[in-house]
Amino acid sequence: MVIKLKIKNKLIFAADLDNLDEVNNILNQISNLINTVKIGYPLVLSEGIECISKFKNLGYNVIADFKVADIPATNKKICKITFEKGADAIIVHGFVGKDSVKACKDIAKKMNKELFLVVDMSHPGSRQFLEKNSKEIAKIGLELGIKNYVLPSTKPKIGLEIRKILGDEAFVISPGIGVQGGEIKKTLKFADAIIVGRSIYQSKDPMTTTKKLINHINLAIS
Ligand code: XMP
Repeated sequence: MVIKLKIKNKLIFAADLDNLDEVNNILNQISNLINTVKIGYPLVLSEGIECISKFKNLGYNVIADFKVADIPATNKKICKITFEKGADAIIVHGFVGKDSVKACKDIAKKMNKELFLVVDMSHPGSRQFLEKNSKEIAKIGLELGIKNYVLPSTKPKIGLEIRKILGDEAFVISPGIGVQGGEIKKTLKFADAIIVGRSIYQSKDPMTTTKKLINHINLAIS
């Protein structure tokens, strides 16, 4: 069974720093504004996988952005270890094909954890390969009964098209706001929550920046 993460203020903080003290410093400033942290390779490769349990102990939902993209047997191991380390959810690539995604889906289901499937990406290079197949990837997700997806905020038109394929039942999170040029209002027409990294952690005043983001989010959905 898939349990939707309850994402406070529809905002996920992407903690892409390579220093845990710096991340904790930011989190101290925004801890009453967000409850979900996305961690990925920059932090985990620098500070270790135990970051996950540290954030869990502080009460955050943790999404492990490992963009899993290997053969089924390896995918299963990566997901299993990540979930055992305490992650609530893991981000998985769809371009590797249905069997690789299914391996992740099966172990997530068995461990009562969540999986987010990357359908398309936010950076310009994604037009080269991924974008051309994004609808097929969305269909793989549907065939496997996946409910959670990652769609790019930098491509609002494609976001809407893919949301139509996925349906209202899907839960969509979207990176690319701010530094990459995505806009909150357009994004929340197809996404349920946004992911923001640099705009917050490079800000001189992360708390004020986060409050402003939340104001924009609230305006966009009102
Ligand atoms: P910024 O600093 O651009 O951080 O606010 C965005 C975060 O999201 C990740 N990212 C993506 N993840 N599909 C994904 O699954 C995407 O299209 C995508 N674009 C950005 C990025 O690594 C960072 O953590």
